[in-house]
Amino acid sequence: MASSKMESAPKFPFSRPKGAEPPTEFAKLRATDPVSHVTLWDNSHPWLVTKHKDVCSVLTDKRLSKERTRPGFPEMSAGGKAAAKNKPTFVDMDPPQHMQQRSMVEPLFTKEAVEKLRPHIQETVDKLLNDMVKRGCEKPVDLTENFALPVPSYTIYGILGVPMEDLGFLTKQASIRSNGSSTAREASGANQTLLDYMGNLVEKRMKEPKNDLISKLCTEQVKPGHIEKSDARQIAFLLLVAGNATMVNMINLGLVTLFQHPAQLKKLKANPNLSHYFVSELTRYHVASALATRRVAKEPTEVHGKKIKPGEGVIASNMSASRDEDVFSDPDTFDMMRFAPKEEGGKGEDWYKAMGFGWGEHRCIGEWLSRAELEIVFATIFQKLPELRLAIPMEEVKYTPPERDVGITELPVVWQMRKDSVMIG
Ligand code: HEM
Repeated sequence: MASSKMESAPKFPFSRPKGAEPPTEFAKLRATDPVSHVTLWDNSHPWLVTKHKDVCSVLTDKRLSKERTRPGFPEMSAGGKAAAKNKPTFVDMDPPQHMQQRSMVEPLFTKEAVEKLRPHIQETVDKLLNDMVKRGCEKPVDLTENFALPVPSYTIYGILGVPMEDLGFLTKQASIRSNGSSTAREASGANQTLLDYMGNLVEKRMKEPKNDLISKLCTEQVKPGHIEKSDARQIAFLLLVAGNATMVNMINLGLVTLFQHPAQLKKLKANPNLSHYFVSELTRYHVASALATRRVAKEPTEVHGKKIKPGEGVIASNMSASRDEDVFSDPDTFDMMRFAPKEEGGKGEDWYKAMGFGWGEHRCIGEWLSRAELEIVFATIFQKLPELRLAIPMEEVKYTPPERDVGITELPVVWQMRKDSVMIG
């Protein structure tokens, strides 16, 4: 690409036009220029890949690296560029180190391991909803603070082995760190507080191991000398923060999407087991982690006929891929039966191709956990609060800034208890 053309490459991230709608540029690029240059905040010009098949090829191409210390790696902000210098965890590693470290914690996140956690997640969801019912809704209640934030926080803290009495304090810090309305200073202070907390917990579990993930890291990895204590602290911190904001956003987006599609909400209320299919469609339709799938070329490679040179950055848009009309029928329509089998009245499309959790070796380690949490949330919430509704007009829902990852920051809701409503749990 000639340098003048490169300079006129559009600014990225693109802005969402309205609410949670994906930027319109993606559909245009898929149709006209599926592998093209964009301009980032630092005036660099990585490639943007928008077709499903090409995104999959980028995310499985061993000539492309996830190591953020390599020159040319596309960073999305000055803060990101500074953070790239920190000691990496597996999320920023290439083979073979990536799998060596990922497999230290993966056994706790497999489908089978998560199945065993379901009763615990159900208990958490029931308790939070029962507390909401008890407190009532004379005034609108913020669903984010009272439900969407604590569900994923309590679950992951349970896995890590954070003492119950610290949950409130840590949930508050996690919220300051990621809710988008804190100042940069407040957010980085909360970040450090969480890191220090994890460091102390590692020290405690080194001396007195329990039956939790941090103890497992200490006993199986730190003590035999496979990793250092600081690595255990970073891994625990990664697991604490990686999915938190995303999960909060997915819960809020799921509720608003149901309110926007009353016929589908009615169907889900009548048959909560459909939440399994609903969640698959939700993580296709709303891609709440759309800027993580970035790479840099280590060796020459080619995507959709475009030659990519070593040192050039690549952004594989999982958000665009999830709306690819060559893979999903009528992709801009939310259809909770899309991934249900045809014999159950669905469209029988392949749920694994939905890109919300990424693709390839770095596909989200928390996918099964997130799916279980979301399935339980959406199967339970309307059974417990059948009259749940927004306390504000739909147009006043507060979304994250249009160029940031899609999400909803506050969600004021009300409900009326029906006389026949029964407490769960
Ligand atoms: C609905 C919620 C979630 C979404 C949409 C999501 C999305 C993603 C995506 C797109 C990636 C791929 C990044 C890449 O290719 O570079 C990823 C990776 C990852 N996610 Fe999630 N995530 C969610 C929840 C979670 C949770 C709850 C955890 C906590 C256990 C978590 C931990 C991670 C980690 C550690 C990675 C890095 C995996 C690796 O590099 O091998 N995520 N996630």
